[in-house]
Amino acid sequence: MTENGDDGDAPGGDALDGDALDEDLRVPSCERCPALVESRSRIVDGVGPADADLLFVGEGPGAQEDEKGEPFVGRSGDVLDDALRDAGLARADVRITNCVRCRPPDNRDPKKGELANCRGHLEGEIDRVDPELIVTLGKVPSEHLLDRSVAITSESGDVVDARIAGASRRVLLSVHPAATLYDRSQRDGFFETIARAGELSGVAGAESGGQSRLGEF
Ligand code: URA
Repeated sequence: MTENGDDGDAPGGDALDGDALDEDLRVPSCERCPALVESRSRIVDGVGPADADLLFVGEGPGAQEDEKGEPFVGRSGDVLDDALRDAGLARADVRITNCVRCRPPDNRDPKKGELANCRGHLEGEIDRVDPELIVTLGKVPSEHLLDRSVAITSESGDVVDARIAGASRRVLLSVHPAATLYDRSQRDGFFETIARAGELSGVAGAESGGQSRLGEF
C-alpha cells in the first residue's frame, strides 16, 4: 500500500472506473510539508479522465476527502455534483483536483509555502491533462493559478487567460461550492458558472457533438 492509501482500487470505490485514473498523475509519496504530513491520512490525488477537457481545481482535501482519498466527496462535493448534473455533466467526464493534495490541519487554508511545495504536482497534472478549460473553485485556487489577488464573488463567471507552467490556459473563475452552503444566494450563480464551464469546454452535450466555444473569447 502506498502513501496515498492505494490498495489497487480506484479511490472512491466504484464511483470512477479504474481507467479514469492514470498512474502518471499519481503522487505516490511526498514529505515536503511537515504540518500536512502530520495531519493527513493519505495523499489525495486528482480524479477523472487523464485527457479531460474540463479540469476543476479546488483548494485542498477536507476530512471526508482525506478519509476516502478522493477530492470533493463531502458537502462541497455534493453541491458540485448537483451543479454538474444540472449542467448535463457527469462527474466521470471531468477531472477534479486540488492545489494541495494533503489535508491541512483543522481545515485551515493551505499556507503559501504549502501551495508552492505542491505547485509542481498541480502543474504536472495540468500539463498532462491539457484541458480546454480550467475552473478554479474559490479564492485560493484562483489567486494561486492567476498569481494575483482575486475578488472572487465579483469575478466569478469571468474567463481569463493565464500563463501556467509555460503554457497559456483558459481559466473560468468560480466561487467555491461551500460558499453556497454559507450563503444560499450564491447558489444560482455557482450553478450558472458550472453550466458555462460545460458549454465553453464542449463537455456538455459532447454526446451530441459538443464543441468547445472558447474560440469565441
Ligand atoms: N474543498 C476543496 O477545496 N477541495 C476538496 O477536495 C474538498 C473540499
